[in-house]
Amino acid sequence: MPTSTLLDIDLYLKEKTDWIDKQIFRFMPASDSPAIGRLIESVNYSLRAGGKRIRPILMLATAECFGDSTEHLLPAMAAVEMIHTYSLIHDDLPSMDNDDLRRGQPTNHKKYGEATAILAGDALMTYAYEVVVRYTDRTRVNPRIVLQVVQELGQATGVFGMVGGQMMDLYYEKHTMPNAAELVREIHQRKTGALIRAAVRIGAVLMQCTQIQLDQLTIYANHLGLAFQIVDDILDVECTPEELGKSTGSDEARAKLTYPAVYGLEPAKSLARDQGKLALAALDQFNGHVDTLRVLTEHIVARRK
Ligand code: IPE
Ligand code: IPE
Ligand code: MG
Ligand code: MG
Ligand code: MG
Repeated sequence: MPTSTLLDIDLYLKEKTDWIDKQIFRFMPASDSPAIGRLIESVNYSLRAGGKRIRPILMLATAECFGDSTEHLLPAMAAVEMIHTYSLIHDDLPSMDNDDLRRGQPTNHKKYGEATAILAGDALMTYAYEVVVRYTDRTRVNPRIVLQVVQELGQATGVFGMVGGQMMDLYYEKHTMPNAAELVREIHQRKTGALIRAAVRIGAVLMQCTQIQLDQLTIYANHLGLAFQIVDDILDVECTPEELGKSTGSDEARAKLTYPAVYGLEPAKSLARDQGKLALAALDQFNGHVDTLRVLTEHIVARRK
């Protein structure tokens, strides 16, 4: 895998993003008929549109805390990005956030129609598991660990993870709740935090971490995941669609329960920074080479995209 100067985060992100962009398509299936061809085209459309690839990069940076030999992570890195891309395709659907722009392009349903977009999401979600099970190197990774990766992904994305969080996000639209602060935290931890936590945990598990190391990194990832979604909420208020490559102002338009809505913009920024500091403090407890993860964390909290 390419390596880079640890402190040059822009270079590190560029190298890893380019590399992931190339590798992820190694796993994509070939079409066997016109209908499947259209489905795969729509999947590739969203996957190829780019995106920051933060979840696979986090998985990799976590693994690099334990050593340099990380090639066996590739199927899991691809899987987490496939699951994330599926979640974006469905998140944009007219029946969900009803957004027209994603990763700088028309959303999947705008380009291919709603039915194909739903199926493209389904295909990415299910294929992610096939990729992990089929392509993870068995000479390097014990089947018990492969099962643990599948379990991490399932738990993070399921009823009490991302899908449950998305349900809460929709359920509480246009609601002013007395316990809004508690609720918005829970929504964010589930809809976004859970998959980020899984990315970090899988990176550690695939490097045969100890339970204590896994627990420490879980605390780190919980804070980072919450910070990530608070920043996403802030950017939705502050940025233009051109800057983000996705619709902005849509949270307010749909009266979503977000950190700026519940706390106000400036307090939300301060809460994002607090979560970033807590994430860094958790890394301080971790006995390993956390330099890359540290710089990546600072970058995620300060990001403008
Ligand atoms: C956007 O995620 C959706 C959230 C969970 C906040 P990203 O900001 O990682 O989107 P891409 O992958 O870069 O497009
Ligand atoms: C999406 O949250 C979380 C997902 C699980 C996809 P948002 O609805 O805020 O994500 P964006 O802003 O549309 O990317
Ligand atoms: Mg949403
Ligand atoms: Mg959305
Ligand atoms: Mg958002």
